[in-house]
Amino acid sequence: MDLYEYQARDLFEKYGVPVLAGIVADTPEEVKAAAEKLGGVVVVKAQVKTGGRGKAGGVKVAKNPDEAYEAAKAILGLDIKGHVVKRVMVAAGARIAREFYFSVLLDRANRSYLSLCSVEGGMEIEQLAVEKPEALARVEVNPLTGITKDKALEIAKAANFPEDLLDAVSDVFVKLYDVYKGEDATLVEVNPLVQTEEGDIIALDGKVTLDDNASEVRHPEHEELADKATENPLEAKAKESGLNYVKLDGQVGIIGNGAGLVMSTLDVVAYAGENHGGVKPANFLDIGGGANAQVMASGLDVILGDEQVKSVFVNVFGGITSCVAVAEGIVKALEILGDAATKPLVVRLDGNQVEEGRAILTAANHPLVTLAATMDEGADKAAELANA
Ligand SMILES: Nc1ncnc2c1ncn2[C@@H]1O[C@H](COP(=O)(O)OP(=O)(O)O)[C@@H](O)[C@H]1O
Ligand SMILES: [Mg+2]
Repeated sequence: MDLYEYQARDLFEKYGVPVLAGIVADTPEEVKAAAEKLGGVVVVKAQVKTGGRGKAGGVKVAKNPDEAYEAAKAILGLDIKGHVVKRVMVAAGARIAREFYFSVLLDRANRSYLSLCSVEGGMEIEQLAVEKPEALARVEVNPLTGITKDKALEIAKAANFPEDLLDAVSDVFVKLYDVYKGEDATLVEVNPLVQTEEGDIIALDGKVTLDDNASEVRHPEHEELADKATENPLEAKAKESGLNYVKLDGQVGIIGNGAGLVMSTLDVVAYAGENHGGVKPANFLDIGGGANAQVMASGLDVILGDEQVKSVFVNVFGGITSCVAVAEGIVKALEILGDAATKPLVVRLDGNQVEEGRAILTAANHPLVTLAATMDEGADKAAELANA
């Protein structure tokens, strides 16, 4: 999960990283009030989960509350790379002497952590990496030892920080690593980290990505940071039921067990769709090993809630889960859903207790259910029904 700048700012503050005062606001009136409260020069900043806000007109300096009001009017509603600004942060204005760059991130390729650092901050790091790679220090960070004061000094020196700043910036690096480790982040980036005219080192912009795998058990409090409004409502509903669901753009709803089987089902359905008006899979949904009635009902409920869905393909290979449990699950799910189930269901079962499972579905003789003998046949039938 990516965080908004204001959320990153709050985390930074919690860990003692130097930041400036900031107040979030959703209307020009609130922005004006925030500017009055902060006093002096402020910066009105679009809160969207994308970089380059400054260049896109999403960061504006305001010398007084009235200017802040005007800045807010210009920024709220602005479209920045497809993200519409609904909220801004009013930040105290810094008098910037120099801009630097610092980040620490999960380096998957090297199965390690990596710190990137430069005395040339402010500009987009991707651009710096291409145009001036020599100005960007890359220092591997051992996950077992992390960024200690010594490691932080090594990073600052590798990035060519001037002697007199080494001590101050390395203290900040250690604290930023505390955020990274303490919050189970996969990225903590500060661009720019600035030195002010007064000589202070301050994190002026923060980008933090949290590891969703850590949120449930290690950080239940991260739930509050999730952006319910912009999350897809179907995905949110699936998450609540503990389902592994990803919304896609097609018409054939998919339910399968095991990520591999579901992925191949998507391919097979997309392929079959070429013969049926170009219909495509509507989602990825893996019900995992325990395909009981409740899981099946929740899965169907989510998929049938997708208006684009015209048919559903249930493709299950019974391994540890027997096809009997799956078949009973489908029958009970249709009972639970009652009139809410309105779209045709193609079911392909195979593996453990397949005959018994099919017998259950045949006996139930539900008007919406069609049995398919093979995966290809099922995909073809589901695509045909979606195109009907
Ligand atoms: N609080 C602030 N005070 C003064 N200048 C700021 C402040 N926040 C940002 N800026 C300036 O605006 C630029 C862009 O802001 P930033 O927060 O980095 O957004 P983005 O990276 O999305 O463009 C910064 O490089 C900095 O020069
Ligand atoms: Mg920035």
